[in-house]
Amino acid sequence: METKGKIVVTGGAGYIGSHAVVELFEAGYEPVIVDNFVNSQESALAGVQAITNATIKCHSVDCTDLEALRQVFQAEGTILGVIHFAAYKAVGESVKEPLKYYHNNVGSLVALLQVMTEFKVTKLVFSSSCTVYGVPDQLPVTEATPVKKANSPYGNTKQICEDILADLARSGGSPIHAIALRYFNPVGAHPSAKIGELPLGIPNNLVPFITQTAIGIREKLTVFGTDYSTPDGSNVRDYIHVVDLAKAHVVAIDRLVQNKAEQIEFFNIGTGRGNSVLEVIHTFEEVSGQKLNYVIGPRRGGDVPQIYADVTKATQELGFKTELGLEEALKSAWDWEVSLKNTSEK
Ligand code: NAD
Ligand code: WQD
Repeated sequence: METKGKIVVTGGAGYIGSHAVVELFEAGYEPVIVDNFVNSQESALAGVQAITNATIKCHSVDCTDLEALRQVFQAEGTILGVIHFAAYKAVGESVKEPLKYYHNNVGSLVALLQVMTEFKVTKLVFSSSCTVYGVPDQLPVTEATPVKKANSPYGNTKQICEDILADLARSGGSPIHAIALRYFNPVGAHPSAKIGELPLGIPNNLVPFITQTAIGIREKLTVFGTDYSTPDGSNVRDYIHVVDLAKAHVVAIDRLVQNKAEQIEFFNIGTGRGNSVLEVIHTFEEVSGQKLNYVIGPRRGGDVPQIYADVTKATQELGFKTELGLEEALKSAWDWEVSLKNTSEK
């Protein structure tokens, strides 16, 4: 089948990556996954296959392994571009094991850029994060909002990776064009309930903790503080449906393919709206019909009280607009949790 070209998707078996693989395929690209399954399961590939009715090629390779990456690029021949999701992402763990994070998150990008250069692959989309803004002085945050000193090694790896891409662009000697997408809080699952988030162990993030509590895996959810200077006292975030986020990668690749991008560009990818933790809980209860067992607890160290995106730049330059709301996201997260339970009981 004729496609628009091959896109290497590192971390393509993971939460966001698997959704992006589906959207790339549906947009006519040929995604090829590179993942070492350190935080994902092969079942994600089966889910992608069930949705797309296609077998997506996957190389079980560690992206910090330069030689193994070279072999992937050699084997794949003409590669149009790369989307680099592969990284560790647990903020708390990164504080305890910083070297693990610097090695994997920074090391994989450096190795990838080297191999892209060797094989003359010039288009890259990089997974960055709203964590680069720290505690912002003004809301909503635009791409011009200053990047603050990171308060975790994880956050610092995203800043360092952005700096590496900017330095490469400034060097004048590299043909690589990179788009760094600063994701806000991705939530939800594919509407088919065939792929979704698969946290290993106790979830760090709010929505999987909610769905696991509602289904009985966790006893109760603790709301980390309701004494913030926010409308209802709980933290405010910009929760974006993972399918919308996945589509942002397709438009970013399109922009690179059309040679419209500067050598390095940054985009906020969110909805432009903020929702509090308590709003998320109550919306979840409405859309799932489940009563959630939750308690109000103390603040969690390091939490940003309030952050949401100004998405003007992504709207104007990428033509990106979210199509799904918090209700759809939370409903899909619940459907996914139920489908996981049904599968495990079979
Ligand atoms: P995830 O853990 O579900 O997916 C990451 C994937 O990368 C996993 O399949 C993992 O096995 C793989 N991986 C990790 N290190 C690897 C390596 N060295 N070689 C090959 N594969 C490797 O995480 P996600 O939520 O899908 O996040 C994807 C990206 O988006 C990450 O870079 C993350 O930092 C970033 N991000 C995530 C969020 C979020 O809240 N989920 C927010 C902002 C940014
Ligand atoms: C959301 C809100 C919690 C769990 C993290 C990373 C960030 C980015 C996205 C990658 C917060 C509250 C949570 C719970 C709660 N990742 N909460 N009880 O902290 O916004 O961002 O993931 O780049 O870098 O820091 O996401 O889902 O952990 O929390 O009350 O059991 O839910 O306090 O306000 P966060 P989260």
